[in-house]
Amino acid sequence: MKGILLAGGSGTRLKPLTDVCCKQLLPVYDKPMVYYPLTALLLADIREVLVISTPKDIGAFRELLGDGRQLGCRFEYAVQDQPRGIADAFRVGADFIDGDSCALILGDNIFYGSGLGDILRSCGNPRGGIVFAYPVADPRAFGVVEFDENLRAISIEEKPERPKSGYAVPGIYFYNPEVVRMAQELRPGPRGELEITDINRQYLERGQLDVRVMKRGTAWLDTGTFENLLQAAEFISVVEKRQGFKIGCPEEVAWRRGFISDEQLKALGEGTRKSGYGEYLLSLLGVAAG
Ligand code: G1P
Repeated sequence: MKGILLAGGSGTRLKPLTDVCCKQLLPVYDKPMVYYPLTALLLADIREVLVISTPKDIGAFRELLGDGRQLGCRFEYAVQDQPRGIADAFRVGADFIDGDSCALILGDNIFYGSGLGDILRSCGNPRGGIVFAYPVADPRAFGVVEFDENLRAISIEEKPERPKSGYAVPGIYFYNPEVVRMAQELRPGPRGELEITDINRQYLERGQLDVRVMKRGTAWLDTGTFENLLQAAEFISVVEKRQGFKIGCPEEVAWRRGFISDEQLKALGEGTRKSGYGEYLLSLLGVAAG
């Protein structure tokens, strides 16, 4: 399965933070934001990842993440020259996907929780589409999925004024290869964008959308406003300090999943030794930092 990490948009709600630095590269406590969704893809055992960003920002992602070899992965990069919407990622990424199944994660979505890796790995071979439903206090800013009494999804709407349920659809999606053709045939929705919710609705109408409720013990964090960004950083910091484990550390996941060897992790740790981040990587190997 391939993975797409979409890091577009202009981050207007975070100006002036986003005037020269794109949103998905802003820090969330001790890492750039994009590390978190990248780690989620690695947890799903996805090692071929296409990063999509704007013409202005794509170079910074390439500089940060490289070709992926250091993580035992393969990263490619592509440009979305206009903000055409989330579903446009499957048009931009058509050659990369090349007839395989594909996961898509939004570059500003942070997930954390026990068992998350197992949950994501179970989405590896979707019959149609697999999305999640997550209870939120105010779902109006999201895709909203409605269930019948048997918890079968019956409708899905983008940013409804009157939501039919309290379940938002988080920004991680898994699809069979058909998603590329569906995206190519899609027309823009009312806000002028190719809506991922319209793709999901097509799968739903065919009886091929598997909607899985994400347990409330899983954290799905927003980073869209100053307040959300700070709260996400605080959350990460509190949990990391308490447990001594890092959240959203791609090097650790690559090592734990066996994508890289002890030697490779050691080299990565030594490269960032001075910041505590490297110390952490070395500590996983039982190597004390000097
Ligand atoms: C997008 C999707 C929405 C989804 C959300 C998750 O919203 O359109 O369905 O619930 O991401 O973060 P946007 O970021 O475009 O406001």
